[in-house]
Amino acid sequence: MANVKFHGGKALPLEMHKVRIVQKLFLPPVEERKRLMNEAGNNTFLLQNRDVFMDMLTDSGVNAMSDLQQSAMLRADDAYAGSETYNRLKAKVRELFGMEWFLPAHQGRAAENVLATAYCKPGDVVPMNFHFTTTKAHITRLGARVEELICKEGLEPMNDCPFKGNFDIPRLEALIQEVGAAHIPFVRIEAGTNLVGGQPLSLENMRQVAAVCKKHGIKLVLDASLLQDNLWFIKQREAACKDMSIREITREIASLMDIIYFSARKLGFARGGGIAIRDQADELRMKELIPLYEGFLTYGGMSVREMEAIVVGLDETMDEDVISQGPQFIAYMANELHRRGIPVVLPAGGLGCHLNASLFLDHVPQSQYPAGALAAALYIAGGVRGMERGTLSEQRNEDGSERFAELELLRLALPRRVYTLSQVEYAIDRVQWLYENRRLVGGLRFVEEPSVLRFFFGRLEPVGDWQDKLVAKFRADFGDSL
Ligand code: F0G
Repeated sequence: MANVKFHGGKALPLEMHKVRIVQKLFLPPVEERKRLMNEAGNNTFLLQNRDVFMDMLTDSGVNAMSDLQQSAMLRADDAYAGSETYNRLKAKVRELFGMEWFLPAHQGRAAENVLATAYCKPGDVVPMNFHFTTTKAHITRLGARVEELICKEGLEPMNDCPFKGNFDIPRLEALIQEVGAAHIPFVRIEAGTNLVGGQPLSLENMRQVAAVCKKHGIKLVLDASLLQDNLWFIKQREAACKDMSIREITREIASLMDIIYFSARKLGFARGGGIAIRDQADELRMKELIPLYEGFLTYGGMSVREMEAIVVGLDETMDEDVISQGPQFIAYMANELHRRGIPVVLPAGGLGCHLNASLFLDHVPQSQYPAGALAAALYIAGGVRGMERGTLSEQRNEDGSERFAELELLRLALPRRVYTLSQVEYAIDRVQWLYENRRLVGGLRFVEEPSVLRFFFGRLEPVGDWQDKLVAKFRADFGDSL
């Protein structure tokens, strides 16, 4: 990786690219932001992008593409069947992962649908380091359940564990003893564990999980959607890997897996997805679901242009100067906030900077969704759109009671190569102002609650008039500033 030191000794993330296409941004005044947030049911998913100044909702499908990706999109082979574009994508996946078979899917959750439909049945148990929302929804839809076996450090918002996404291996062993290998269709490893703050697993831990699976004859599946950050953390933090190239680490990880699926909205910096498979028997088991749910086997619901962009994007993922940008900007933001006394998840992970809403709003009860309230408050404070990753993102228990999340986080994703350091400084400034005025922020309650994936389109209202008070304080502190 490029090693550039500043003469003054400052540790700043330095962009190893330049920006050549830009998009104009708008910042509505604070009174408007309050109105728009309520029009959107206090759910940041329901805001219109034109009303958002910094869109830190996600890094999914919104990373900046490279010049090489854009130019590759021009030579796409637009055939319904047997497209050359598909052959190039399949060859790239084979080159990086060393797996013989590849099935295309239109995005990550589509791959999860195919995987779960092919393997999960009522009564089954799928162990994983931690669930992702769509993964769990597909598995439970089929009557199977998810068991989360993340190490205990993973659920502590702040410690110095470098691999908080690691599996607790003794608990994995114990679970297999308890339910029996026959009821476990596969074990799932989620690289860059999304819901605990984008935290990585070590290569060593993946090896241990693979050894347990092998001993019991259980398939091992990798969700590689967030692999790019995880690769960089392995290279940075795992002493045994510091002299390995990103390509070698990727190959080594892949060699442990039976199946690797991914969202190419994240891995590959484009939009799409796919499933790489080691054995033909597994390919045959999933293959017929592709034309049923996705599209013909050589496009799987993706545009051929996007597929060409993924081919180049996957290659660029092997470049440290490309994959270091996300984690470095995220670490800058998290460390700056921490320095100012604001509770964040540490060490900084991938994907985004995560505010610890339980501490930030320790006066808001979990039943009033502190992470959701913080998301609404930050949009009002600065036009910054984050994503609730707490109790709102959970599904209710079968008896209708709330399932309180282990962590109440507000995720501020850093789409790769999209925002400059001064914009990141602006977000830090508004978070700090909000922290200083946190006692003004209250909770939320549902007015419309969908039964599945409620965080996507549920609507809420503030408990009390706290948003009016917040707007008044903003005006008092910032005068005529937007
Ligand atoms: N697995 C992981 C680890 C993910 O982070 C995501 C998506 C998916 C699967 C599903 O992929 O969106 O292409 O269908 N995460 C996005 C996010 C939505 O904002 O974190 P998808």
